[in-house]
Amino acid sequence: MKVLGIMGSPRIKGNTDLLLDEALKGAQSQGSEVEKIIVDRIKIAPCREYYSCLRDGNCAIRDDMDGIYPKLLEADGVIVASPMFFYGLTSQLKALIDRCQALWTRRYILKQESPDAARKGAFIAVGATKGQKLFDGSILTVKYFFQAIGVEYAAELLVRGVDKKGEIREHPTALSDAFELGRRLAQK
Ligand SMILES: Cc1cc2nc3c(=O)[nH]c(=O)nc-3n(C[C@H](O)[C@H](O)[C@H](O)COP(=O)(O)O)c2cc1C
Repeated sequence: MKVLGIMGSPRIKGNTDLLLDEALKGAQSQGSEVEKIIVDRIKIAPCREYYSCLRDGNCAIRDDMDGIYPKLLEADGVIVASPMFFYGLTSQLKALIDRCQALWTRRYILKQESPDAARKGAFIAVGATKGQKLFDGSILTVKYFFQAIGVEYAAELLVRGVDKKGEIREHPTALSDAFELGRRLAQK
């Protein structure tokens, strides 16, 4: 099984990154092959609504998304991880997701991609504040993203009240919860 981790924070070794690493270790513990994409370290332009994807399912923009599309389609499990930036996903991650309109088009307009119920996805998110609705908008975005690429939203780990770089290490359960999330995702 291949598990793809998409790291949405620009802060390397920050809270999101540490949580995703634990989740990927959990997946590895079940024998999965894992790969982590750090979206801040690659070039992904935002969607420009050229709509060439409506013709053939391919985006007109040539950048690092060329290499991401096949990874998204090949993975058996996908873990999306992001800090909350103004109650949403980071703009780097959102650009990657928006560019998946091409995959949505292949699936729902051009009917190219066959439904594959076996692919599972998980969402890991962290924010500094503790409001009840902190993750609501991002959960909807990630659910719709997973639907576009044919992945079931199977698990989530949402951690409130964590702000400074690496502060997640002081959280009583978050890192072990992340490991467990990855372990279970790789079992399904
Ligand atoms: C631009 C920006 C916007 C933020 N907006 C929010 C927010 O709306 N709600 C919140 O709880 N935390 C917010 N935060 C705090 C981060 O979510 C928090 O510091 C998180 O732990 C960062 O995770 P990281 O280390 O993985 O980058 C924001 C931080 C930045 C830099």
